[in-house]
Amino acid sequence: MRPVEIKEGIFWTGVVDWNRRNFHGYSISHKGTTYNNFLIKDEKVALIDTVAEEFWGAMQCNLAHVLGPEGKIDYFIINHLEPDHAGCLALAVEKYQPEKIYTSPMGQKAMQAHFHYKDWPVEVVPTGTEISLGKRTLQFVETRMLHWPDAMLTYCPEDKIAFTNDAFGQNWATSERFADQVDRTFLEDLMKTYYANIVLPYSPVVLKTLKALEEMNLDIDMICPDHGLMFRGKEECKWVLDKYVEFAEQKPKKKAVIVFDTMWHSTENMANAVASGLADEGISVRVMSMKSNHHSEVMTEIFDAAAVIVGSPTHNNGILPLMADMLTYMKGLRPQNKIGAAIGSFGWSGECVKVLTQALEEMGMDIVDPIKVKHVPTHDTLVQCYQQGKDIAAAIKAKLD
Ligand code: FEO
Repeated sequence: MRPVEIKEGIFWTGVVDWNRRNFHGYSISHKGTTYNNFLIKDEKVALIDTVAEEFWGAMQCNLAHVLGPEGKIDYFIINHLEPDHAGCLALAVEKYQPEKIYTSPMGQKAMQAHFHYKDWPVEVVPTGTEISLGKRTLQFVETRMLHWPDAMLTYCPEDKIAFTNDAFGQNWATSERFADQVDRTFLEDLMKTYYANIVLPYSPVVLKTLKALEEMNLDIDMICPDHGLMFRGKEECKWVLDKYVEFAEQKPKKKAVIVFDTMWHSTENMANAVASGLADEGISVRVMSMKSNHHSEVMTEIFDAAAVIVGSPTHNNGILPLMADMLTYMKGLRPQNKIGAAIGSFGWSGECVKVLTQALEEMGMDIVDPIKVKHVPTHDTLVQCYQQGKDIAAAIKAKLD
């Protein structure tokens, strides 16, 4: 896509990765993504972030559209070193020979470890540092662990823009550039997906950072993340900031997710019986087989659920591998405020619910008694599972009311 002038003299020069489905090797992006970067034309020309290396050609074209083929870039601002944003940095340094490369203190360390550079003109800009581009200034705010240690926000007070890198991003490849041009419900859903799979473990940092930004009293009327749609206007900026507070607080809804794997349908039948018990008590339920869902899709549903029920038959004295994958992924994302329960069938040794329950306990969940069934559930054991669903529903209501 061609560059877009988002404010006078400030251009979106990013690229749209329409068919990206594997995002960073661990999550799914059903709608593709964008790598946004920004060019500011002032007395000094500044480029904020690059794009993934495979789009180096497209990025050069976009920069040439704005600057002309021999265009010069004086300053690089690198808000984050992950390769979807800094992937073209080495190529861009070679081509544009910038006068300065500005990055956070942790960014400098990450830059060295990624690029092993020798004589790049890197200048570290801790929080509070300000540089002049001529008519404009750029101010830097470290946003450590949102979501890497090097993360930084760049703010332009004259244009009231915050360039926020991964924060507030969504994986959505679109021809539109602004959030007010697309369907809001879908946008919110993709913001949630992004948060649940990438930002979630750092929720306490999100709250602290948002509070610090509020105390800095920055006048913001445009928020430009490095993925997806941008937000323009004060109301839009307030909406997205409030949304992140809501996400970070992790207040659960009256919702339960049952995630399971199954060999011969016993655990699956148990899962469906638990779901009926929950639904009959007015709890919204998702039943998700690991054979049909990617762990990042499951995690998006777990994110705002009050209860997580995990199911697996016993397999080789443990659990099925897809459930082990799910539990490892979920634990790393540190979901808070959940009720947990385990279900599973077994043939002889029967370790499944013990292993599952231990994993839920390690995640700090409030545990409801597990149920395990030998080989095939009977009518009576399915009634027990139905009752477990009702018990979990009662625990959800007690927790939320
Ligand atoms: Fe979009 Fe942390 O990279």
